[in-house]
Amino acid sequence: MKKGLLVLIVTVLAFPLKADEGMWLLPLLKQQKFPEMQALGLKLQDYDIYSPDSSALKDAVVIFGGGCTGEMVSSEGLLLTNHHCGYGQIQMHSTLENDYLTNGFWAMSREQELPNPGLTVTFIDKIEDVTDFVKKELAKEDDPNNMNFLSPKYLNGLAKTRAGDAYLQNNPGLSVEIKPFYGGNVYYMFTKKTYSDVRLVGAPPSSIGKFGADTDNWMWPRHTGDFSVFRVYADANGNPSEYSEQNVPLRPKRWLNISLKGVQENDFAMMMGFPGRTNKYYTSWEVAERRDIDNTVRINIRELRQQVMLEEMLNDPAVRIQYSSKYAGSTNAYKNSIGSNWAINKHNLEQVKKVEQDKLIEWGRKNCQPDYEEALLSLEQLIHERKDLRFRSWMLDEAISRGIEFTRVPTDIQTLCDALRAKDKAEQQQQLRLLEMAYKRFKDKNYSAEVDKKIAKVMLEEYRRLLPPASQPAYFSVIDKRFKGDVGRFVDDLFAKSVFGDERNMQKFMSSPSAKALENDPMILFAVAVQKEKAALTQDLANFEDGYAIAHKTYVEGLLKMYGDKANFPDANFTLRLTYGQVKGYTPHDAVYYRCQTTLDGVMEKEDPDNWEFVVPDQLKKFYAEKNFGRYAMPTGQMPVAFSATTHTTGGNSGSPVLNANGELIGINFDRNWEGVGGDIQYLPDYQRSIIVDIRYVLFIIDKYAGAGYLLNEMNIKE
Ligand code: ARG
Ligand code: ASP
Repeated sequence: MKKGLLVLIVTVLAFPLKADEGMWLLPLLKQQKFPEMQALGLKLQDYDIYSPDSSALKDAVVIFGGGCTGEMVSSEGLLLTNHHCGYGQIQMHSTLENDYLTNGFWAMSREQELPNPGLTVTFIDKIEDVTDFVKKELAKEDDPNNMNFLSPKYLNGLAKTRAGDAYLQNNPGLSVEIKPFYGGNVYYMFTKKTYSDVRLVGAPPSSIGKFGADTDNWMWPRHTGDFSVFRVYADANGNPSEYSEQNVPLRPKRWLNISLKGVQENDFAMMMGFPGRTNKYYTSWEVAERRDIDNTVRINIRELRQQVMLEEMLNDPAVRIQYSSKYAGSTNAYKNSIGSNWAINKHNLEQVKKVEQDKLIEWGRKNCQPDYEEALLSLEQLIHERKDLRFRSWMLDEAISRGIEFTRVPTDIQTLCDALRAKDKAEQQQQLRLLEMAYKRFKDKNYSAEVDKKIAKVMLEEYRRLLPPASQPAYFSVIDKRFKGDVGRFVDDLFAKSVFGDERNMQKFMSSPSAKALENDPMILFAVAVQKEKAALTQDLANFEDGYAIAHKTYVEGLLKMYGDKANFPDANFTLRLTYGQVKGYTPHDAVYYRCQTTLDGVMEKEDPDNWEFVVPDQLKKFYAEKNFGRYAMPTGQMPVAFSATTHTTGGNSGSPVLNANGELIGINFDRNWEGVGGDIQYLPDYQRSIIVDIRYVLFIIDKYAGAGYLLNEMNIKE
């Protein structure tokens, strides 16, 4: 008995991580995880995946745009990512006549590929541990308590010094960055190469690429073909260059082989990508704060707002188009917060973190290291003290600043008012034109004053119900004073009186502009009051930030010391990571098992021609009826669509290449199940699954559905 207990304790201490947990840094992979990966089935050597001095699989993995991952799949710059990652570009090129969102887009030759100003693709050339260097530099500072240890400006300054001006100038598109890990206990420097001529090659229609839309978002079993195809261009020397007709497809250092063999339950799977943010090192108090303030406010407020939006969208097709992207953005984080709170409660994550911090307190006492206990005490106190401010800030943000669109009316009116008072005609004309432009930007094609008005009434009602008057912007007192607390009348009055309230008001103002009218404009006053409140809250909360950062760093340092040599990984921070695990289903409820692979059969089951989210294109139905899947079918004859795996991923991992034991591409990551999003705080082995579009479905859509099979000629496809 005793021996059994001892073995158990030793195992628990030695492996504080659950199997499959982890977003691993590539330079540490060999020492930390490689044997376990091989034991799970990996057939590669560590240097096949990552090698500091030669090309490896990691060189095929890129940052796509500002927050997604992509992968290179040909020697001619071809790149795969998600449909939802390329959504902005696909939308930008869409018009009523050429509606690529609805119908898809396929370049049938290089000339037809569409340039995307502003879109970039970034390769990670080099990753170096610079902890000693940064710590030495930090030690030179006069004030040991300054916040340079987390400051991007300071750290990137160090990176530039280290790399040298000449090196950066001689290498176009190259940049360097030093990022803090483990709360600022460890530093890595990244040398990056950014390409800015990235062209759209193809995208399936939304009825494939966004099939299931919001209803299916964060859900398994899933049936979405969430992929799009781009091509990276460079100058004749392979260097980054702005868009130019002279540019040529980039020959990357590395591109992925593709496997048509498919997956079986329990197969090894791994992916590399750029996970954005996790909170594994939360204390119990932060878990509670996240649940009771951040997530709760978000869920409650968005629910009300989405209700209004949805009602208006269903009533009016024009509004549906205007608000579909806003609605999707809103529900994405909303559903995530619901899953997050579900996991916090179901798995008692508060207690999980408490056990860990109590263990550290014990360890600190035994080893005469009181700093860690002190750090925990100050975290507890600080989180307690910022409670009210945090609630106010989240309420203001969700209900008012994000919730009400007219908080974004132009407020920068001083120069115009001055010009009006000075009767400076030339300046007046100039400033009036600027105001008109700002007004047009505010009232873009996706704005409906009617919808905004309805939402504002609901948002203000709720905001005022939950916050005492002293915790609201002072200006809101007019609602009581002038409107007897009737927010409906208040909002109607704003729209009736403001120059931004409707077109006629604007015209009236333009024909006889006056400084007084602008200065007393109720919408401007409202927006300014909200901005001021936001600035004040940000300022007050900032007082806690330094203390938090220092205590958090100390806490994480304690954990690292306590666990000694045991493999650990830092929280996600949008740097290149690897996660591995197995293709696997899961049990969401008693007696229910979700298998790991979905097929086109499921698309047909979900089909609903009357619901835009579940429309299936006729041509896809034809392929289905004829079972005409060619070499992309599974041995059962079915068409694979998506699969799930135990890999540890988060937002930013969208578009990540999913590789089999031989390092061949088997899918593109695009989502997680809602039961697994709590993994951002604590990995949940029985619940957390990455959702991955099967590469066979991707190729089937490109080749057979879209008839763009010529693109496959440049890929290395293994049957
Ligand atoms: N939930 C996925 C991720 O966070 C996909 C979001 C895009 N799809 C959507 N229906 N909004 O970002
Ligand atoms: N859908 C997410 C993304 O866009 C991935 C996730 O949160 O699992 O990065």
